[in-house]
Amino acid sequence: MNFVNTVIRRFKAACVELLKIDILRFQICRLRWMLYRTRLKVIDQQSQGVGTNTVSYNLGVFKTHAKLVFGMGKRMSLLLYPTAALLGSVPWANVLIVGPRTEDDILWAWSLGLRGARGLDLFSYSPWIDVGDIHATNYESDSFDAVLLGWMLAYSSRPDDAIREAKRILKPGGLLGIGMEAIADEKLESVKATLENLVNSSADLIKIVGEEVVFLYDPKPDGARYQTFHGYYLAVIFRLQA
Ligand SMILES: C[S@@+](CC[C@H](N)C(=O)[O-])C[C@H]1O[C@@H](n2cnc3c(N)ncnc32)[C@H](O)[C@@H]1O
Repeated sequence: MNFVNTVIRRFKAACVELLKIDILRFQICRLRWMLYRTRLKVIDQQSQGVGTNTVSYNLGVFKTHAKLVFGMGKRMSLLLYPTAALLGSVPWANVLIVGPRTEDDILWAWSLGLRGARGLDLFSYSPWIDVGDIHATNYESDSFDAVLLGWMLAYSSRPDDAIREAKRILKPGGLLGIGMEAIADEKLESVKATLENLVNSSADLIKIVGEEVVFLYDPKPDGARYQTFHGYYLAVIFRLQA
């Protein structure tokens, strides 16, 4: 019996590792979205920190960017890989991915060994993504080994509140990872209307978070692996005081 259990366990683990294959993961995510979208729930009480069009815009992306929405060009690699490396010794680390939008961030995290990862978003069709608002969550204090804010902070008109809440729910010594798009000066005017705050650089993040930096990816525009129409992607991971 023990032998059978071991075989089953190893088979399941191998299946989860297969989720590292992007094309496979994207197809699974797309299929699950088609199956489960009728279960979509949207938050009924969001805080004042949430930008007015955040939910409608992000739900609209399932139609306007039907292919890109699952994976978003794999930018979450900038948070998921370093987090997996930094938490490598913590079995079943409790990781909260804020703003995953689809299940892709979650499945990718599992495939990298972060099997305790789940999501939090303003809407969800998934059993692995809780409905909630990072400015004020229902999670208990000191709950998570890592909280990742992946390309969602731009939608907050009160980023300090979002970061305060993320720190509250993190365990002492926990990791707070933030990925964002830095907008080039000459493009700022044209995108101003869609940005809810003025956080626009790793220096800005370091100032508002005020904790030890344990990972920094900020290649500046020219060296960026992920160039965008308006600028480039950067990521910073902080470790809270133990
Ligand atoms: C642009 S998507 C990011 C998707 C994915 N993490 C990535 O980087 O490719 C931003 C997501 O953040 C969610 N979001 C925005 N404000 C939020 C808040 N206050 N609490 C929880 N989720 C939020 C949006 O609903 C959306 O699904």
